[in-house]
Amino acid sequence: MKKTYIGMFAATALASTVTFAQAPGKVKVGLMLPATGTYAALGTAIENGFRLYVDEQGGKLGGREIEFVKLDDESDPSKATDNAKKLIKRDNVDVLVGTVHSGVAMAMAKVAKDTGTLLIVPNAGADAVTGPMCAQNIFRSSFSNWQPGFAMGEAAAKKGYKKAVTITWKYAAGQESINGFKEAFEKNGGKVTDDLQVPFPNVEFQALLTQIAASKPDVVYTFFAGGGAVKFVKDYASSGLKATIPLVGAGFLTDGTLDAQGADAEGIQTTLHYADSLGTPRDNAFRLAYAKAFKSQPDVYAVQGYDAAQMLGIGLTAVNGDVSKKAEFAAALEKAKIDSPRGAFTLSKAHNPIQDIYLRQVSGKENKVVGIASKALADPARGCRM
Ligand code: BEZ
Repeated sequence: MKKTYIGMFAATALASTVTFAQAPGKVKVGLMLPATGTYAALGTAIENGFRLYVDEQGGKLGGREIEFVKLDDESDPSKATDNAKKLIKRDNVDVLVGTVHSGVAMAMAKVAKDTGTLLIVPNAGADAVTGPMCAQNIFRSSFSNWQPGFAMGEAAAKKGYKKAVTITWKYAAGQESINGFKEAFEKNGGKVTDDLQVPFPNVEFQALLTQIAASKPDVVYTFFAGGGAVKFVKDYASSGLKATIPLVGAGFLTDGTLDAQGADAEGIQTTLHYADSLGTPRDNAFRLAYAKAFKSQPDVYAVQGYDAAQMLGIGLTAVNGDVSKKAEFAAALEKAKIDSPRGAFTLSKAHNPIQDIYLRQVSGKENKVVGIASKALADPARGCRM
């Protein structure tokens, strides 16, 4: 009797092993993105892009069906640790994908590092994620805050601007974007004379615009995104400053926002790893598929979501769908060339994209490419020990 029981157990175990090897269950992806607040539209574009790639692969990555668990992170860093833990412990997700806001992403990276959960960041640029917090299981499909800032610092100095004022939200993304700009601008002979900040996500800019008018810089560099970017560009124009002091920025200032900004955005130059007029066969195909699926035009956030799914697919394919094989998953991504609509890119040792940063200019409803501000720009990954 006992022998039969053991025999049955062994047979069941064998059957389930065989079943897993031949038809593994679903991979659960925890989408932790903003669905409310100033970054809500960014979250939607990322999710759309991610789903588009998964749909193009017939709903499977690495041979396993993808199942989504969604959570609105509200771009609120104070809730981020609990939210990430909920997805991992309560919902048993295999992979975390998120988010937009740098403060929330840093909390997610800490939880991912502590628990060993795979994390793919499809936007937030927090330098620390691929700096001091870098880890074998943490990847980014987007950028570091330093990258577009640094590229614009060089471009602004090249244009001959000498004196700049910066203005942004007071949190990691704004501060790090300004730091990148300042590093390159001052290295190339410019000087940042004022660093103006408003708390996130405030959009009361009037007092600071008055300060800018008084200090008369050659150029204003800014980081704003989403709803805040729309309001800032409109306020800058209606204050009369647009006619006298050029406004430049990290490309989020005019990405996914042009319908709402209208003529007030015309002519603004920004730096970013994507533009609306790349015209490559890869980007054209992506834009067509996105427009067909979602009845709207894609933006940089959609591209980053799409590429996050591509990266997950590359990793899962390498490990045959077995998410526990973290070292093999990482090794596959470290040697991959990711076929992005932005142009192919590779990952740095710290798992951040090494990519071209375009100089763009708003023309009508598009961010048109003016040139490449910085070729194959790699984040310095300061503090990363891997
Ligand atoms: C950030 O918080 O890192 C961020 C948010 C929106 C656009 C770009 C960066």
